[in-house]
Amino acid sequence: MRSGRPTPSLRFDDGRGCTAFAGLGSFAEELLVHERAVVKIRDEMPLDRAALIGCGVTTGLGAVMRTAAVPAGSSVVVIGCGGIGLSAVQGARIVGATPIIAVDLVASKLETARTLGATHTVHASETDPVAAVHEITGGGADYSFEAIGLSATAEQAWAMIGIGGTATVIGMLPMTSQVTIPGGEIILSEKKLQGSLMGGNRFRLDMPKFIDLYLDGRLKLDEMVSATIGLDEVNDGYAAMKAGKTLRSVIAF
Ligand SMILES: NC(=O)c1ccc[n+]([C@@H]2O[C@H](COP(=O)([O-])OP(=O)(O)OC[C@H]3O[C@@H](n4cnc5c(N)ncnc54)[C@H](O)[C@@H]3O)[C@@H](O)[C@H]2O)c1
Repeated sequence: MRSGRPTPSLRFDDGRGCTAFAGLGSFAEELLVHERAVVKIRDEMPLDRAALIGCGVTTGLGAVMRTAAVPAGSSVVVIGCGGIGLSAVQGARIVGATPIIAVDLVASKLETARTLGATHTVHASETDPVAAVHEITGGGADYSFEAIGLSATAEQAWAMIGIGGTATVIGMLPMTSQVTIPGGEIILSEKKLQGSLMGGNRFRLDMPKFIDLYLDGRLKLDEMVSATIGLDEVNDGYAAMKAGKTLRSVIAF
């Protein structure tokens, strides 16, 4: 009987199938991938910058450009300024959104958000972020993006948008979590809540487009790399990112 799962292309020595995360695998020095996961990019693109686009940048840019399809002139708020949220901030700048409000708990992340396109920043441990966004936008943002993965901030994303607004959750909420929104607002305010998986990307179209944006100077990747590390330092790289000390570390194989 067919299980619906593809047959693993890799096997352990004892014959058991070995599936690769997301069909790719992570931190492997050699990969076996489907042809749809391969695309030719411009020769002048440095690979230690292209590496950032593979997940985080594509997710943040795609959430803005594809999932929400934010039109120029819209007001945007991004909650969480890690690699994903800052890519959403950049996406908002590239499509011509204004104002672009970045929310985080770490001052250095907010400073980086300014350099990448945020017009306003809100330090969420010092200010009520929902009230601040309503004040800056005069009644709520057109689009909000949650880039953390918490129920509380997903609920803030809903509360930050105004009438007709759209809240997009990018952060990976735990499977058992619940997000509570006021039922009456769904109809009376025509607000929308949606999720975005990998920015709804179409890899073979989007990857070359994002490379063009970097080489044209519109997508800033150099600013997102805090350190270059070896594969044996991968756990330290994660610890530094979780502690808010780094934005992204690139592994040089
Ligand atoms: N939807 C997808 O396809 C997809 C793809 C990749 C990653 N993700 C998810 O996106 C989320 C963000 O990933 P990341 O790599 O940018 O994480 P990160 O840890 O680098 O960034 C999270 C940011 O949120 C800030 N933060 C934490 N709590 C906050 C709060 N209460 N208010 C405001 N800011 C707060 C942190 O200071 C940090 O800057 C994760 O949940 C990740 O799993 C989703």
